[in-house]
Amino acid sequence: MKTSFIDTQDFTKEELLNIIDLGLSIKKHLKAGNHLNVLYHKSLGMIFEQSSTRTRISFETAMTQLGGHAQYLAPGQIQLGAHENLNDTAHVISRLVDIVMARVIKHESIETLGRECSIPVINGMSDYNHPTQEMGDVTTMLEHLPPNKKIEDCKIVFVGDATQVCASLMMIITKLGGTFVHYGPKDFQLKEEFRQIALENCKTSGGQFYVTEDEDEALKDADFIYTDVWYGLYEAELSKEQRMNIFYPKYQVDMDMIKKASPNVKFMHCLPASRGEEVTDEVIDSEYSIVLDEAENRLTSIRALLVYFMGKENETREIIKNNLEN
Ligand code: CP
Repeated sequence: MKTSFIDTQDFTKEELLNIIDLGLSIKKHLKAGNHLNVLYHKSLGMIFEQSSTRTRISFETAMTQLGGHAQYLAPGQIQLGAHENLNDTAHVISRLVDIVMARVIKHESIETLGRECSIPVINGMSDYNHPTQEMGDVTTMLEHLPPNKKIEDCKIVFVGDATQVCASLMMIITKLGGTFVHYGPKDFQLKEEFRQIALENCKTSGGQFYVTEDEDEALKDADFIYTDVWYGLYEAELSKEQRMNIFYPKYQVDMDMIKKASPNVKFMHCLPASRGEEVTDEVIDSEYSIVLDEAENRLTSIRALLVYFMGKENETREIIKNNLEN
């Protein structure tokens, strides 16, 4: 069993679906008013090299709900970077907390933490991927699937820039056997490295993957339309204005796009959203939008990841089962 959660590619379809199922069971248990103190007296270290709303709050809330404690280690508030290197921080933090999560600027940093820490490490986003986001996204998709439809039957269309969220969504959807389409401008499409991963995943899972600049082809029968911001994630090579000129208006998710998809289509966004840029107010506030369920399911999946990587899955499932029987 893997001891850290750095990349969904390290896990099988069955392992990922099991963690998602664990999250849904815990969610139901807590929503029914029950408690679950399986991480009593456990401490989570949260290293953030970048700002965060959903990820930080979800990890902190999850630890509280599970009976433990989370420590927010913000940029500039710990010695990392200034007086201490990442290896030393990894060795020290392993002695002080029970599990660590990190949002890092460079993916090498989360890989280093995964290698050097002697405690479980969870990737809270890097410039390469955002795996906790995708566990929550698939959870949300499962909750919103039309009756008799499985994720394997779904077409998920990512519109716009090939961000790390786009790459992560591609990796999990193709691993689970769904159809993933990236609809984006030529120089901002998923790179060859990711296309190879997609094709390998599809070979095993029976999923499908393609990249296109053709809107009608991309959106036809789409079950989920997903987008992300167009600029500002990392040090930009192009200015905001240059990037806006590339994406706007063609790649803005508006009602015309929604109407080209399946009548049951759902709109998703990892958030934060730049309203009026990659998505219109009309779409994000519409009945098609499930962005708030998606944000809530960051917490759902993060609770499950904490329980799973702290080795508390069996105990948790037993508590939930006993509670249902009594
Ligand atoms: N989607 C997401 O990761 O949000 P935050 O950057 O607010 O954590």
